[in-house]
Amino acid sequence: MSFQVVRPPVGVAPLLKAEGVSLEYGATRATHDVSFDVYRGDRFVLLGPSGCGKSSLLKAAAGFIKPSAGRISIDGKTVEGPGADRIVVFQEFDQLPPWKTVKENVVFPLLMTKRLNKQEAEQRALHWIAKVGLGGFENAHPHTLSGGMKQRVAIARALAMQPEVLLMDEPFAALDALTRRNMQEELGRLWEELRFTLLFVTHSIEEALVIGNRILLLSPHPGQVRAELNSHQFGLHSAGSEEFQAAAQRIHGLLFGAEPSRDGAPAAAAPDSDRSAAL
Ligand SMILES: Nc1ncnc2c1ncn2[C@@H]1O[C@H](COP(=O)(O)OP(=O)(O)OP(=O)(O)O)[C@@H](O)[C@H]1O
Ligand SMILES: [Mg+2]
Repeated sequence: MSFQVVRPPVGVAPLLKAEGVSLEYGATRATHDVSFDVYRGDRFVLLGPSGCGKSSLLKAAAGFIKPSAGRISIDGKTVEGPGADRIVVFQEFDQLPPWKTVKENVVFPLLMTKRLNKQEAEQRALHWIAKVGLGGFENAHPHTLSGGMKQRVAIARALAMQPEVLLMDEPFAALDALTRRNMQEELGRLWEELRFTLLFVTHSIEEALVIGNRILLLSPHPGQVRAELNSHQFGLHSAGSEEFQAAAQRIHGLLFGAEPSRDGAPAAAAPDSDRSAAL
């Protein structure tokens, strides 16, 4: 099997661009000189072991933390702080205010933007609640919902905002295997319908292959780009296939194996133009 070479679409500017991004927490350098481009409609995955700076990069894209070097931009504008064009779905089930119902949880940020009145916000909320399969649970409170249902609310809340980029940090990691699979499928279906731009963080190779059309592999301490590859040929339908397993093994080798060889596999320090060579 082989991955296809990652080539940027000709004449299209990236929607989200990370250029030489280094992130630091005091003396800890979380990432070093990380660059990547996310194009409109991409399902772009940041994949790497614990501590490689995936969450930090997502937080920087969200505008919660500032790079110590480099920059992140959306549509050419430097990200200076949080904004309604970038909404984050986290792993934690407690990201929903517990005193608000499902509908109130989705309505609240819509009203905050001041772009919709109450009736419009409610209509939009109901639409998205139905889209994620939670019709009938509008008036339920989060503590009465399963983990998967809570994550659906968080997804509905995010998509209702119609962000330029949906940012997801291991949103399914705390779910049981079956629910996790369902949610991956559901996200795929939503993407097929809406073609939103997704920046998705995971440490699961299989999840990266299932969700992503492009995957950035990061190595830890500090997080650095190890390789970038195309994965649009994979999906849940191919999860058990030989090709899928071979791809997963190849990624595993790139992430955890010895320094990649020069014969086709991208080296950790390869320049940008090279790092997306066929694997
Ligand atoms: N708030 C913080 N204060 C200090 N150091 C931090 C903070 N957040 C992250 N770090 C450090 O930055 C590095 C990257 O952390 P980050 O959480 O971004 O990694 P990650 O790839 O998301 O890991 P995981 O897969 O475990 O979620 C780690 O060394 C971590 O200890
Ligand atoms: Mg993380």
